[in-house]
Amino acid sequence: MSRKIYINNNFYKLNKFLKIKKYTNIILLLDNNVKKFCLKKLYEYLSNNIKKKILLLEIKSGEKYKNLKTCINIWNKLTNLKISKDSLIINFGGGVITDLGGFISSLYKRGINFINIPTTLLSMIDASIGGKNGINFKELKNEIGIINNPISIFINYKLLFSLPQKEIISGLGEILKYGLIYDKRLWNLIINSNINKINWKFIIYKSIKIKLSIVKKDPYELYGYRKKLNFGHTIGHAIESFYLYNKNPITHGEAIMLGMICESWISNIKGYLNKNEYKIILKGILKYIKIKKIKKVFFNYIINIIKNDKKNFNNKIYFVLLKKIGESIYNIEINKNTIIDSINALNNINN
Ligand SMILES: NC(=O)c1ccc[n+]([C@@H]2O[C@H](COP(=O)([O-])OP(=O)(O)OC[C@H]3O[C@@H](n4cnc5c(N)ncnc54)[C@H](O)[C@@H]3O)[C@@H](O)[C@H]2O)c1
Repeated sequence: MSRKIYINNNFYKLNKFLKIKKYTNIILLLDNNVKKFCLKKLYEYLSNNIKKKILLLEIKSGEKYKNLKTCINIWNKLTNLKISKDSLIINFGGGVITDLGGFISSLYKRGINFINIPTTLLSMIDASIGGKNGINFKELKNEIGIINNPISIFINYKLLFSLPQKEIISGLGEILKYGLIYDKRLWNLIINSNINKINWKFIIYKSIKIKLSIVKKDPYELYGYRKKLNFGHTIGHAIESFYLYNKNPITHGEAIMLGMICESWISNIKGYLNKNEYKIILKGILKYIKIKKIKKVFFNYIINIIKNDKKNFNNKIYFVLLKKIGESIYNIEINKNTIIDSINALNNINN
């Protein structure tokens, strides 16, 4: 587990941390949008001595760069710059940067210290927490990766002010997931909130608490319990890959919300979740997204991706399902036809 998570509206604690640690070099990994919108806000709090030590490594923004090619580019730069093991990598960005940067740091010289400074809602409440790092490979999401925690996570929720609305909604998707699998009050709170008036500090704190309490019981996903965090992701990841590799990417959270509709539908059809609660879930999610229909010719693509899902075993497909809002179960075998039925049900929703 990470040693400490700081949630603030400034970076004073980060400056103090970097002053005490005395790293030889500090590598700041970020993308072009984060450089444009967030770097100045970070530098305001850092002393000149620390700023002098920082080397910026910038990549282009977007899920399509979360791949091996980007890793090789960065490892090349780190080696050419002779970055030693007593240096620090700061992953400053959304989930793409924290997933990618955590992976690069964990393998460079068999592991170099890294910290996460998330800049999107999704990375503040989910991607930067819990130690999962990785990259996409062969059109499969997070196919290659490692579980390894940053030494600290510094969250400044004021960085959310420059985040586009669609990215805020993407983060809300994962918060709604926490509500559905674990905490009905959180679900109700988000569903009944005006997103322009949300108390981010409270919501971020609450979401992280839920994620950590699940991760703590099964940090390396050896026993199954951590799979609960994957509700909506079996079908959601396949939808995300489908749009990404067909050059029309949608946000991670939007894909997960579509996945949660399908997987709530399956929960109902299989007799775990009652129809009324399924309708409440559907109405709640439709407050934030519009349904994207998936043509029948692409169903096989989606199924093939799902066959590679990390929760599968014995060549069977297993899902996390809901018993009710706030309670989930895992390792439920679901066959291909039911998955296709759920995508047809998604296609038949009008909004
Ligand atoms: N490791 C985990 O446990 C975990 C959990 C959930 C999701 N993820 C991964 O996270 C990724 C999605 O993360 P994301 O939604 O943060 O996407 P992202 O990193 O692509 O960021 C979204 C967009 O916002 C921009 N941006 C970032 N911060 C900004 C700011 N403050 N102001 C303006 N623009 C800003 C980025 O440049 C990008 O264009 C996916 O790859 C997903 O698989 C990982």
